[in-house]
Amino acid sequence: VLVVGCGLGEDIASLLARVGPEGEVHAQDISGSMVRHVLGAIEADNLCLSVSNATALPYCSRSFDVVFHFGGINLFGDMRKSIAELDRVCKLGGQVVFGDEGIASHLRGTEYADILINNNALWGLEAPLAMLPHHCTDIALEYILGNCFYIISFRPGAGFPEVDLDVPHVGLRGGTARTRYFGKLEGVTADAKARLASSAQARGVSAHQLLQEIIDTHLPPLASTAPIEGSDESPP
Ligand SMILES: C[S@@+](CC[C@H](N)C(=O)[O-])C[C@H]1O[C@@H](n2cnc3c(N)ncnc32)[C@H](O)[C@@H]1O
Repeated sequence: VLVVGCGLGEDIASLLARVGPEGEVHAQDISGSMVRHVLGAIEADNLCLSVSNATALPYCSRSFDVVFHFGGINLFGDMRKSIAELDRVCKLGGQVVFGDEGIASHLRGTEYADILINNNALWGLEAPLAMLPHHCTDIALEYILGNCFYIISFRPGAGFPEVDLDVPHVGLRGGTARTRYFGKLEGVTADAKARLASSAQARGVSAHQLLQEIIDTHLPPLASTAPIEGSDESPP
């Protein structure tokens, strides 16, 4: 287990008990005096400490089963880089758990939240879900201590199960998520769109199928794969 930003090491004793004599607890903090305090306060052969920065952790990639941090990441300077580091040093399928101040989103705008945020601006920060690595899985968000602190947990992964962007959609509009995104036509009037939809409906096909049919029937195939003037591939 790695404890990031361990401070006075208040979580370390319980983690040592959890991992047992066969396990190891590593802990780091940017402050030498915090790390010295932990050194003096806790004696354990399986505890390793370092003075280092959470934005550039001095550990090998994918080396810990669990990476834990609480109470400082909002002020680590570069939160996105710090989260990326928590992810990097955690094994694939291991668990990253971190938390800090941030009133629960559903309480924003209530008097309770306003009073607390007025008291401590850090409580106004949102849980940084948008900064999680794209490939992580099993993401969970919890609020603790009067809903004033977020706890985010996730597992580093090789990728998440994506939806199939090429499944044909049933219905008048037709196409797939991908063709709808990449196949937008410029300058189609509302009238042309309505005529396409009504003709498609009359023939019992989707607008996408009818458009494809019209193009296949009336336009010559591309002579080469060179970019076409005015197409999406040509520079503006
Ligand atoms: C509020 S304390 C929380 C300590 C401990 N996690 C706890 O819950 O009691 C925040 C800790 O983060 C440390 N810290 C601040 N910036 C850091 C950084 N960039 N890298 C590592 N530790 C940092 C501080 O020195 C401090 O010990």
